[in-house]
Amino acid sequence: MNKTHWWRDAVGYIIYPQSFQDSNGDGIGDIPGIISRLDYLRDLGVNLLWICPIFASPMDDNGYDVSDYYSINPAYGTMDDFRRLLTEAHARGIRIAIDLVMNHTSDEHPWFRKALADPSSEERGYYYIRKGKTVNGKLLPPNNWKGFFATSAWERIPGTDDFYLHIFSKKMPDVNWGNPKLREQYYKIARFYLDMGVDGFRLDALAHLGKDQTFADSDFPVDENGLAFDTGRFSNRNDLFGYLREFREKVLDHYDCVAIGEVGGDLSPEKALDYSSYDHGSIDMVFNFDTAWSNGAYGSIDKSDEEIVTDVVGLKRAFERWYRICNGKADMPLYWDNHDHPRVLSQYGSLAHRNESAKALLTVLLFLYGTPFLYNGDEIGMSNVTYTSLDDFANDCGNRNDIAEKRAQGYSDEQILKYLCRCSRTNARTPFQWNREPNAGFTTGNPFIKVNENYLQGVNALDEMEDPWSIINYAQYAIWKRRDPEIQKLMNGKLTFLEIENPDVIAYVHESEAGKLFVIANMRDHDVRFPFYYSVEDCYLHNYGEALLQDHVFTLRPFECFLLKA
Ligand code: GLC
Ligand code: CA
Repeated sequence: MNKTHWWRDAVGYIIYPQSFQDSNGDGIGDIPGIISRLDYLRDLGVNLLWICPIFASPMDDNGYDVSDYYSINPAYGTMDDFRRLLTEAHARGIRIAIDLVMNHTSDEHPWFRKALADPSSEERGYYYIRKGKTVNGKLLPPNNWKGFFATSAWERIPGTDDFYLHIFSKKMPDVNWGNPKLREQYYKIARFYLDMGVDGFRLDALAHLGKDQTFADSDFPVDENGLAFDTGRFSNRNDLFGYLREFREKVLDHYDCVAIGEVGGDLSPEKALDYSSYDHGSIDMVFNFDTAWSNGAYGSIDKSDEEIVTDVVGLKRAFERWYRICNGKADMPLYWDNHDHPRVLSQYGSLAHRNESAKALLTVLLFLYGTPFLYNGDEIGMSNVTYTSLDDFANDCGNRNDIAEKRAQGYSDEQILKYLCRCSRTNARTPFQWNREPNAGFTTGNPFIKVNENYLQGVNALDEMEDPWSIINYAQYAIWKRRDPEIQKLMNGKLTFLEIENPDVIAYVHESEAGKLFVIANMRDHDVRFPFYYSVEDCYLHNYGEALLQDHVFTLRPFECFLLKA
């Protein structure tokens, strides 16, 4: 199969289906809801959707715990609805990548049930089941590993001395990719959807498919429960690259599809090439986390608001490093936020300058390099929630565990609430704000999670569409510019960051025979001065009325940004 690399000039958009649009009043977003918004998405100009998991699931981790890969979660619709989504999206020139979870299943998946019920079953070998160890007469997990959701990575199988490995929630047992039969199961699932017409995958938690199979204790420092958070034991390990090669040869190579891996935190761009380089990689792109949390907010329960400051230089260095090392060798996706992060507007933007900062963030992302992905709601400037009770965060298993852990560490509920409002991924999962109707037009029923009340202050798609200066109208225009062949030609030039050590401004230029394309964005909520020695030929995008340029120096107002040809 000849790959056309169609994703290289696509503009991506991430949909969190539970929160996007409810069509039947049960308070949960669904596939018919997404279909009803395809015109909106086409008009916005995005043409590659990554849709978070839609498979049958008991929803312990909101769909990342799959109990049947071959059926659609009934709360989201039916397989026929999904086929219709594909047809309707394709008819609008929009491609669809689904979120494929291959690191773990739900504990309610028939494989796991069988594995527990019958120790001699084939399925037993699909999981990591090990004997616990007895210390001073007490049965402990096989080792001291801590998982991503603030608990031991092992759970005891009731009535036995056995434990199963789960690096995420205990309802998500990890599967054993060392087992060829298990691998074949996933290849079959992938082919099933590709044959149906799906255009590709976002491969969830891909970095973790290989584990340290000695299962020895980590020698990292341990927490109050004797647990060590040592992600190296289950991230980016060598055996996984062999599995991926096989996946490519047996499945991906036979379709003109895109495969984008989520590879997370501890990955260098050099190592990323082992996943996605043109010459020896097995998938097309990887999402890294290096430009997320560049403000000290991660784990910041002890910090005051004043201590949360965007590290503008750090962001530029991270973008620059990935570009320098991967450009010409691998395709790269870009994003500011997704369903696992607080809202980017609250992270790097400013509520006081919502309009300007949302536009600046969009501009920086869209014209940098690679395939940009917006997260649903970025285009209308959605921001973090101001929930008043910890119960409002109970929908997310990660948050539930966080709350328990922080309470055990002695934090007050008030401190934990403040922390979650700043850092929780629930911030990204509140219902999409469509209009001024009750519940922001997301549902006519009771939403499964509270709506952010700021939809009544104009933060909703309909109000914004009626305002020519709105974020959404800017986003739409900017995305069409991004897809304009003329601009794409300019973007093919060599990328350089201007004044990379400037602490306040993100500025870069693409240079080629076709000309110089500049992005300049003030990332602060106050005026800053920025030198500019070129003569402006064209201004494609600008988020203020007039530009203040005198004697080769811009006075940039809060979050002022430009896309310029010079
Ligand atoms: C990925 C998903 C996240 C999920 C986890 C476990 O990181 O993005 O939402 O909780 O994998 O599947
Ligand atoms: Ca519904």
